[in-house]
Amino acid sequence: MTDDDDAKVLVIGAVNVDLVVTAERLPGPGETVVGPDVSSHGGGKGANSAVAAARAGAAVRYCGAVGDDEMGTGALGELADEGIDVTEVARVDRVSTGAALIVVDPSGENQIAVGSGANARVAPDRVRAAVARAADWGAGCVLISTEITSEAAVAALKAAAEHGIPCVVNPAPVLDELVGVLSVPDILTPNSSELRDLYARTLPDDPRDPPEIEMATALAEHLDVSVVVTLGADGVLVVDRAGVTSVPAGEVESVVDTTGAGDTFNGVLAASLAGGLGLVAAARRGAAAASLSVAHVGARTGMPTAEAIEHAASGT
Ligand code: ATP
Ligand code: RIB
Repeated sequence: MTDDDDAKVLVIGAVNVDLVVTAERLPGPGETVVGPDVSSHGGGKGANSAVAAARAGAAVRYCGAVGDDEMGTGALGELADEGIDVTEVARVDRVSTGAALIVVDPSGENQIAVGSGANARVAPDRVRAAVARAADWGAGCVLISTEITSEAAVAALKAAAEHGIPCVVNPAPVLDELVGVLSVPDILTPNSSELRDLYARTLPDDPRDPPEIEMATALAEHLDVSVVVTLGADGVLVVDRAGVTSVPAGEVESVVDTTGAGDTFNGVLAASLAGGLGLVAAARRGAAAASLSVAHVGARTGMPTAEAIEHAASGT
């Protein structure tokens, strides 16, 4: 792999507690479905990708916010147990820690409702300060996901650019305020539906519904950024100055829960870039890790170690 000992990543985004129900199918509007199992897991796109990056071998700082409740204490404890530095995290008085209600069907597909709680209180000044300190620390990558306030997300990516730290933005969800600053980060990592959304908002004159490769190429050219699209079981599409590369997903015997697959990809991508890999090699490592992650219930349960990623990537 890389000289990952030097890989330092700052992750900015949400942390949640996920309550997961496995059921025969996802509920429709107004419908109740009953499943046999319920379990509680650490979640939130920011915290999940921080865990993925740490397990992949990077030194990780995480910046976000939790409430002054037991869920917040537990969430921070879980991240610290992964070796993640949580000193940039705010504890907000009289606010709940973020939570997600997740239903998973037998194919591993999910339905998620998120209550933002403290994630909606991540302050722009906090993320600016965290980025400045990460620059002094020698961070090789800042990874930002957008389940926090748009002000904080935009402040974070502008600060990363000002400090010259390579910046990956996972636009999940696509925030209105993000659309005007999409050319600021180095790499955008939408999934298929986010890519469609970004394309429609950025190049709105196209009446067609073009294929992903066309949308990603047009977006990359228009914004002058690299675009890395995650396509579920179809793997990853990397569009950068060198051209277009298709990275296959790993083979999975049984897909149990795809929750957090994108977060695993983003965390390992950021760790690998910070460790010195080029974009395509980093995306290969991210895709191998993400495919390993879908075989278990819970966003973080199946996130692999560096050793497991190397094993899967080498096909042995
Ligand atoms: P989520 O929001 O659930 O975290 P996402 O929509 O952001 O996911 P996906 O594109 O679904 O991200 O998946 C990310 C990566 O995970 C894929 O590029 C692939 O490497 C891996 N992956 C996801 N689903 C599967 C699957 N069914 N089989 C193999 N690999 C998968
Ligand atoms: O990407 C998966 C995550 O999205 C879950 O852990 C849930 O908390 C939601 O934020």
